[in-house]
Amino acid sequence: MLKVRNVHKRFGELRVLEGVNLKVDKSESLGIIGPNGAGKTTLFNIISGFIKPDDGKIIFRNKNITGAKPSQLARMGIVRTFQLVKVFSNMTVEQNMLTITSDLDYLREFGLWEKRNKKAVNLSYGELRKLSIALALASNPKLLLLDEPFSGLSPKEARDLAEIIRNIGGNGHSIAIIEHRLSDLFNVTEKVVVLNSGKIIFEGHPDEVVKEKAVIEAYLGKRYVTA
Ligand SMILES: Nc1ncnc2c1ncn2[C@@H]1O[C@H](COP(=O)(O)OP(=O)(O)O)[C@@H](O)[C@H]1O
Ligand SMILES: [Mg+2]
Repeated sequence: MLKVRNVHKRFGELRVLEGVNLKVDKSESLGIIGPNGAGKTTLFNIISGFIKPDDGKIIFRNKNITGAKPSQLARMGIVRTFQLVKVFSNMTVEQNMLTITSDLDYLREFGLWEKRNKKAVNLSYGELRKLSIALALASNPKLLLLDEPFSGLSPKEARDLAEIIRNIGGNGHSIAIIEHRLSDLFNVTEKVVVLNSGKIIFEGHPDEVVKEKAVIEAYLGKRYVTA
């Protein structure tokens, strides 16, 4: 479905991505973890066309899509959500959904049906986050990129979202998820890549990731100390 080949990106002197390779197969959910500043969001920005790589290629369904615009990529089926939620805040939940589709079942699926007449600006943080993911899914992407979807959610909301994400995969969509909340992430992914200082330092099953010395040193150790 998606192949990222030898992608490099620098901002001025700062080398943010240094030869990143990864792939996401059909129906696969790939987790992307790593410390703040590792380059995770930049990688999503490149895959979804918001910024161009300095070097390397993005291949989607066997087509070279490097440098294509976000709108073109969305039409081809690559859709992302943002770390900070983007919805029309003065429109109701239902009006937001109607900008994408007339199929309001997505609101039921995401537990937002009762809130459909509320303006987005009056939603709780968790509801807003669910709405942004529901909107992304409503455009029927082939590849969905989720940037920290669990952040700010209550345990109950996180469980509900995990179920939705598992269903997305079951329906043949591919997903890449950046997430710091590892127990939530590991509920929905079988494969995880670890990005550290712009390089992938490990790739494997969640059970292997948590045992890997390099990953503990670069990321997990620090997290457990500060948690
Ligand atoms: N548009 C930009 N211009 C300059 N520096 C940027 C830009 N976007 C990100 N960076 C820098 O690149 C590094 C990686 O950022 P980011 O990809 O957001 O990391 P992550 O999502 O893993 O926390 C950080 O040091 C960040 O400050
Ligand atoms: Mg980020």
